[in-house]
Amino acid sequence: MSSVRTDDVEQLRATAVAVTQQVGDLVLRMRLAGADQVQTKTSDTDVVTAADRSAERLARRLLAQWRPGEPVLGEEEGGEGSTTGGLCWVVDPIDGTVNYLYGLPWYAVSVAVQRDGQSLAAAVGQPAAGRLWSAARGGGARCDGVALRVSGATQLELSLIGTGFSYRSERRARQAAMVAGMLPKIRDLRRAGSAALDLCSVASGWLDGFAEHGLHRWDWAAGALIATEAGAVVRLPPRGSDFLLAATPGIVDSLAELMAQCGADAV
Ligand code: IPD
Ligand code: CA
Repeated sequence: MSSVRTDDVEQLRATAVAVTQQVGDLVLRMRLAGADQVQTKTSDTDVVTAADRSAERLARRLLAQWRPGEPVLGEEEGGEGSTTGGLCWVVDPIDGTVNYLYGLPWYAVSVAVQRDGQSLAAAVGQPAAGRLWSAARGGGARCDGVALRVSGATQLELSLIGTGFSYRSERRARQAAMVAGMLPKIRDLRRAGSAALDLCSVASGWLDGFAEHGLHRWDWAAGALIATEAGAVVRLPPRGSDFLLAATPGIVDSLAELMAQCGADAV
């Protein structure tokens, strides 16, 4: 791929896809090679592997080559979250690192490009399954070339909802109390371990909704656009908050209301 200065969202999508594929190949190879070095971050349960670090380095190298001069925000090395009016790449080299560590195939590479905090193009790859979701703002969402549409759910009590939990145990206790209140009022809950894939699941109609406290920009930047372009209503974390909610339009208000009743504001 050559380095072309363009804001065309389909070309940006192609770049996000190419980065995601190459990084995904590396992550999968490292997983198959076995024995990874593991360190912890914000708590003993928040892990980072050598593969996370190598994957982010590769993503940064590819973006420097194909999109020279554009800033990158990544989970492992940080960086500029945005530059006013300019493009910024947002990378989660492995989303679902705990799954990756255990060999559970539900982990992802997530790459998005944003302007002023709004995602313009995105890709999420699931290397263990060879699946790839992508989206361009206004250009729709696809998984492996097939156009995506959210589920048609309209009844919250018959809806399958994804969520995730913090790495901090005090916050997890509050999240547990909240989901205990929600469970009797929905079909069931899923905690699959990758926010990026949870959002792609909403896009694919595999979940009717998803909500989580404690997300970072790299967890949702790609998946949120993919879900939006598939027809989901996505409420991004307002300034000062880290709570994201995404759902098919028929249940989004009732899901938000139920979560509020179950203490979402205090989580
Ligand atoms: C985590 C996953 C998980 C979510 C956490 C995230 P990581 O990302 O997306 O599903 O519950 O909030 O931090 O640490 O595996 O990149
Ligand atoms: Ca993540």
